[in-house]
Amino acid sequence: MPLDIKPNIKGVIFDLDGVIVDSAQFHYEAWKALACEWNYDLKRSDNEALKGVSRKDSVLKIATWAGVYPTTQELESIAARKNTLYLELCSKLTPHDILPGIENLINELKANTIKVALGSASKNARFVIEKLGLDTTFDVIVDGNDVIHSKPNPEVFIKAAKRMNIHAQNCCVIEDAPAGIQAALKAQMLAIGLGKTAELFQAHLILPNASHLTLSKIEQLYQQILT
Ligand code: BG6
Ligand code: MG
Repeated sequence: MPLDIKPNIKGVIFDLDGVIVDSAQFHYEAWKALACEWNYDLKRSDNEALKGVSRKDSVLKIATWAGVYPTTQELESIAARKNTLYLELCSKLTPHDILPGIENLINELKANTIKVALGSASKNARFVIEKLGLDTTFDVIVDGNDVIHSKPNPEVFIKAAKRMNIHAQNCCVIEDAPAGIQAALKAQMLAIGLGKTAELFQAHLILPNASHLTLSKIEQLYQQILT
């Protein structure tokens, strides 16, 4: 029998905020409340540039937009209070908040011995997945506590692939943020964007959500990209 040497997808890395749960909205609400202290009205369009970006880098971006020059202490205080507000919003999460299609896709991947990882910039990732009842779901979790560089740096995805023991080229990333898609591409991974084409146009495939995303669709896309 000939050996099956056809390259294929061996691992799928899920972003958390905005992919598994709509916590991207909570990040926005919390930052918006704090940006008011700098008399800055944080718009939804601003928030696109904060998705996938660490808390520390986010507060710096907001200060720049607001045209303020806070001390390190003030930056830390704003970031800490944003986090308290964010955690309050997240504390109400339950397994019902898992976004459409995500559980089906994870179950299908596992049934086909494809590894599943979480690749999130958030330092609160473990708290959030616990609320969602997904704390034992992932083979590997890489979160904001494990990385130095924020997306679009590929560090989080490269680390996840290494921990799964899979080559980056055999991984697929599912993301809702432009910075996350860029990180996946830099890591040489297949990049699937969930959201709007205007924002995620660099992805290999863009879908409104994961409802119709299946393993066979991912594999088909992978073979198309290879040829
Ligand atoms: C990312 C979010 O997942 O995590 C960003 O898209 C957020 O908006 C980042 O800033 C860091 O999250 P946390 O929970 O560590 O403040
Ligand atoms: Mg996200």
